[in-house]
Amino acid sequence: MTQATDKSRVLIFDTTLRDGEQSPGATMTHDEKLEIAEMLDDMGVDIIEAGFPIASEGDFNAVSEIAKRSKNAVICGLARANFKDIDRSFEAVKHAAQPRIHTFIGTSELHRAIPNLTMDEMADKIHETVTHARNLTDNVQWSPMDATRTEWDYLCRVIEIAIKAGATTINIPDTVGYTAPMESADLIKRLIATVPGADDIIFATHCHNDLGMATANSLAAVAGGARQVECTINGLGERAGNTALEEVVMALKTRHDIMPWHTGIDTTKIMNISRRVATVSGFAVQFNKAIVGKNAFAHESGIHQDGMLKNRENFEIMLPEDVGLAGTSLPLGKHSGRAALRDKLEHLGFELGDNQLKDVFVRFKDLADRKKEVFDDDILALMRVGADAESARLKLVTLRVACGTGGPAEATLVMDIDGAEKTAIEKGDGPVDASFKAIRKLHPNTARLQLYQVSAVTEGTDAQATVSVRLEEDGNIATGESADTDTVVASAKAYIHALNRLLTRRGKTGEDEKEISYTDH
Ligand code: KIV
Ligand code: ZN
Repeated sequence: MTQATDKSRVLIFDTTLRDGEQSPGATMTHDEKLEIAEMLDDMGVDIIEAGFPIASEGDFNAVSEIAKRSKNAVICGLARANFKDIDRSFEAVKHAAQPRIHTFIGTSELHRAIPNLTMDEMADKIHETVTHARNLTDNVQWSPMDATRTEWDYLCRVIEIAIKAGATTINIPDTVGYTAPMESADLIKRLIATVPGADDIIFATHCHNDLGMATANSLAAVAGGARQVECTINGLGERAGNTALEEVVMALKTRHDIMPWHTGIDTTKIMNISRRVATVSGFAVQFNKAIVGKNAFAHESGIHQDGMLKNRENFEIMLPEDVGLAGTSLPLGKHSGRAALRDKLEHLGFELGDNQLKDVFVRFKDLADRKKEVFDDDILALMRVGADAESARLKLVTLRVACGTGGPAEATLVMDIDGAEKTAIEKGDGPVDASFKAIRKLHPNTARLQLYQVSAVTEGTDAQATVSVRLEEDGNIATGESADTDTVVASAKAYIHALNRLLTRRGKTGEDEKEISYTDH
């Protein structure tokens, strides 16, 4: 049954590769974008917003390649309200079996002031641009940006214009995460009841999480009549992020009794894509994040464990298997072979080719030599970090640090820079500071440290530490991640990883830059 005939079907529009990727520091490479798009298509996402084609050559190429490779999903490209953006968007998505142009303009009083347009001038622009898009394809989405702060009469007026000009989906963005559930439901309900032609199109909801209400607001909008939810994996996105896909989908599945709508998502693919997005974006998932956090299905307190043993429903409202979490399995060790590792990886949802497995096996052996038991979380950390180390221009060769009481720490660090080994000895305020100074000595740079974060992967004093480092240089932001049983080594590797990512970005001038503004029209 199609969405047009099945009134209980909610379309899932994923914007991880557009709104998510635009989050500072979350930039993904071309290949990573293709991989994520394939995973989204495989899990049953209805519409993939693959990027903002006018933003850069890199964005354009990624969107058009995703369009060419698409299987079932509609592929959508974002465009501001001008012909050049719209043409570029269509050029990129036209290769898809089902292309969509998504064009938008800020309609609230505050946003109208940016291009300095009167209400009438903006209304004309909306008519012209939606008509232009509709002449290119019959699948056009239009968004009044900052809709939830737009005057009611004007919002109705411009939506009517967009529908008459041929928009087939009207998206209602809560751009600054300002609305609340009752208001969100009411807004969609009133729009459907008021705007002429509303019954012939689909209303979408696009919420940001500034007040922590994005999922609630999206579900409320569905209750009000929206049949497309815009979201991202892990809630990735600027500021507090977008609505999390996994939360909406699992809420609809788990509470079908009071929310009688359904999606086409294969929920068992959720964990795998969540991990992959965390890795490629550099945005780790918080431990207590709903659905995909490390602790989301952990019932560790004594009372809970007792209750769980008696009946898992006492404390578990969803089955871990439903989100693709296989039950925990036996740890590996230094005698485990390649077949055992392959088995474990498959159990965790990774299917690797022989060459990839070979690379992971080398890193696994190295870890197993230092750590008695290698748990699932260690393997996941191994998969998250270091995969691109081989092709990197900067590599850590050795690091020795002398530290303790009675003086500054001293790091002796050897780094391979474009194939040549170089050594630096630096003192610092603690081992991490000394190591970072040594790296800067060998690879002078002006990158500013924005974030340095350490967390233990498992319990025990031999646990691996994962370290995230976020750097900013000339407006470019890059996040590096690493894991090691030695926190200082993990820190140095994470710093080098972030520097490598900055170098890649610099090398591909224009490819990943997002200097283009959403408010220029
Ligand atoms: O949040 C927003 O308003 C957007 C638009 C471009 C749809 O992302
Ligand atoms: Zn948005």
